[in-house]
Amino acid sequence: MRVRIRRARKLSGTVEVPGDKSISHRALIFGALGATPLRIDHLSPGLDVRSTADCLDALGVERSWGPEGMVQVRGRGELRPPGTMLDCGNSGTSMRLLAGLVAGAGVPATLDGDASLRRRPMARVLEPLRAMGARAEGIRTGSEERAPLVFAGGLLTGRDHALRVASAQVKGCLVLAGLHAEGVTRIREPAPSRDHTERMLAAFGAPVRVSQEGTVVVQRLSGPLRLPESLRVPGDPSSAAFWVGAGLLVPGGDVVCPGVDVNVTRAGFLRVLERMGADIRVDPSGTEAGDPVARLHARGATSLTGISIDASEVPSLLDEVPLLAVVASQAEGATQLSGAGELRVKESDRLAQVCAGLRAMGAPVEEAEDGFTVLGPARLTGAHIDAAGDHRIALAFAVAGLVADGETVIDGAEWADISYPGFFAELAERTGGAVTA
Ligand code: S3P
Repeated sequence: MRVRIRRARKLSGTVEVPGDKSISHRALIFGALGATPLRIDHLSPGLDVRSTADCLDALGVERSWGPEGMVQVRGRGELRPPGTMLDCGNSGTSMRLLAGLVAGAGVPATLDGDASLRRRPMARVLEPLRAMGARAEGIRTGSEERAPLVFAGGLLTGRDHALRVASAQVKGCLVLAGLHAEGVTRIREPAPSRDHTERMLAAFGAPVRVSQEGTVVVQRLSGPLRLPESLRVPGDPSSAAFWVGAGLLVPGGDVVCPGVDVNVTRAGFLRVLERMGADIRVDPSGTEAGDPVARLHARGATSLTGISIDASEVPSLLDEVPLLAVVASQAEGATQLSGAGELRVKESDRLAQVCAGLRAMGAPVEEAEDGFTVLGPARLTGAHIDAAGDHRIALAFAVAGLVADGETVIDGAEWADISYPGFFAELAERTGGAVTA
C-alpha cells in the first residue's frame, strides 16, 4: 500500500493507542501455562500478536475472541505437539518466546517466519537452550543460526546465562525454558531490557524473582500458573511515541494519549524528549497488568535541542529510535546516538533505513556502525520512502512527512499493521487530510 503525506496544518485530539505488543504476547503465552481461563482486554490488534495466538492455537491452547480486543485463553496443563509448522510471521518476539515455551515443554515443533524473520539471529536463543539440554537446531551460517528452528524435545536443566546483548526476547525465552527445567536458571543481562516477563510471571505466583544485582532467577514451576481471571493490556508506548513525536513537531500540535504504559524499561523515549526540551506532560493514571500507566500530553510549543543518547539508554528506547531520529532532524544542533548496533538486526537494518530516509528528505545525517549523528534543524523535503518491510520505519517517516515540504510517499505502508492497524486512517483524520491512501 502506498500512502501520501503532506505538511500538516494541524494535529490535535485524544488518541487511544492499541494495547502493548510486548505485554500482549506474554499475556497469551502465560495464559497457556495456566489451567483456568484468562480474559485479556485491550490485546494488541497487531499481526505480530496474531502470530503468537495462532501458534498457541496449534499447540492446543483454547482461545475465543470477543469484541474490541477481548480474548479468552485457557491452557490445558500441557501443550499438544503441533501438526504443522508454527508460523511466527514477521514476529521476533513470537519466535524467541515460543522457542522457550516449546523447549521447556519438550514438544517437538518447527518455528518459521517470513523472509525478514528468517534473516534474524537466533543462535542467541538456540545456544543457551541447547546448554540447558534442548535438542534444537536452526539453519547455520558461520556461527549464526536462523529460522526455521527445529525443536526435538530434550529434558532441561537450569543453567547460569550471561547474555551478550540486553534482549527481553532472549531473557523471556530462557525464563520460559527455566520454568520447566530441573534446578535453577539464572539470567544476567549487560543492561536492563524490558521486564514484562519477570514482572508478570512473579505477579502470577511463578517462581521467578530478580536479585538485587538484576539477575533473573527462575525455578521449576510445579503445577499450572495461578492466573488472575482477567487483565487489561495498557496502551503501547512504542505506538504512542509516534503521536507524541508528531504532536511535538507539527506547529500548534496538541495530542493526548491516555492509558499508556510508562514502565521505566520502556519510557526512555520520554526521558530523551524531555531532555531535548519537549513540552510533554506525563500524568500518572494508575496501573494495568502490574505496570504504571499515564496520560501523555505532547504540545508543539517549544523548540528542541539536540542531545547525546548513549548505550545505557538504548534498551529503554530501542523501538523508538526511528521516531527519535526524525524528531532529532527538527532539533537545534547535533543528536548523537551510540551503542545501538542491535538496531541492525531488527525487522530491517533500522540504522541504515533511518539514515537513508532522512538523507533522502534532505537532513544531514552521518551513519555509524552502532548509531548515527543527525544535524538539525533540517528543512525536510518530501521523498519516496520504502518501509523496507518494517512497521516502525513506515510510521516514523509518516511523522517526517507531516513536517516536510511537498509530498512524502511511503511504499509498504501496510507494514504498519504489524503493530498498529488503523494508524494511517487515524493520522488522516487527525491531520485534516494531510494523509491519503
Ligand atoms: C521485545 C523486545 C525488544 C523489542 C521488540 C519487542 C519484547 O527486542 O525490540 O520489539 O517484547 O520482548 P529485544 O529482544 O532486542 O529486547
